[in-house]
Amino acid sequence: MQHFDLSYYQKSADYVKERIGCTPDLAIVMGSALGGFAEKIRNPVVIDYADIPNFPIPTVKYHDGKLICGDVGDKKVLCMAGRFHSYEGYSFEQLSIPVRMFRLLGIKTLILTNAAGGVNLSYRPGDIMLISDHIKLTSLSPLNGPNIEAFGERFPDLGDLYSAGMRNTAKRCAAEIGLAVREGVYMFFAGPQFETPAEIRMARILGADAVGMSTVPEAIAAAHCGMRVLGVSLITNMAAGVITDARLTHEEVARTAQDTEKVFTIFLEKVIKEL
Ligand code: HPA
Repeated sequence: MQHFDLSYYQKSADYVKERIGCTPDLAIVMGSALGGFAEKIRNPVVIDYADIPNFPIPTVKYHDGKLICGDVGDKKVLCMAGRFHSYEGYSFEQLSIPVRMFRLLGIKTLILTNAAGGVNLSYRPGDIMLISDHIKLTSLSPLNGPNIEAFGERFPDLGDLYSAGMRNTAKRCAAEIGLAVREGVYMFFAGPQFETPAEIRMARILGADAVGMSTVPEAIAAAHCGMRVLGVSLITNMAAGVITDARLTHEEVARTAQDTEKVFTIFLEKVIKEL
């Protein structure tokens, strides 16, 4: 299999650097149907993914495909409205392209958001969960292949992948706006099919609180190149088999995301200002 070298990622970064003309303070990736946050960004420079050399293109509904650079409070933010998933046919290595591009732009702080299914029986649709850790049962990794030393070491430690410091800031922000947030373990499933009820029982036994089809490949790539990561899941539905007669649909995921978007956006804006 062909792997990318540093110059491959550099090509994307050079193009974006030229277009935005600054070093953003942080990057944020918006999950399914959560792209509305992008409208809060002031003085936006909008770049179509299709214009960025070597950048993938999202193929799923509710993922826009635009990179937006602008101001949130006194922070310069680079926001991905629309992300890529392995179920679209992208390799884990391809999923690392945006993250590695962020790092080459000088960004060291990353917020990853997603829509997720609730596994923890006390969770409810609309809950917001800060990711404390993850479980990934597939052997795929964005770091497969020759290590690119310029990004990081061969065997990175993931003990504080989801930065405890950033989580504490997020918890404080939530408390200040009267928002109750959860904190839990996110388990990666490749999808695109939703999980089976048996898989969800397994996930719960293994210690997962939520399941989803994104975030983990990007988080690993970010940890490898020394970025601090905050992961935020919006619980859009209870996972398979929790409510036995419920059918899972992407529309339900999108509906909850849209219903919760306002509070989710207020929370994120506050966190970004305080980071
Ligand atoms: N499973 C996997 N991914 C998801 C789910 C789910 O139930 N809801 C939103 N993303």
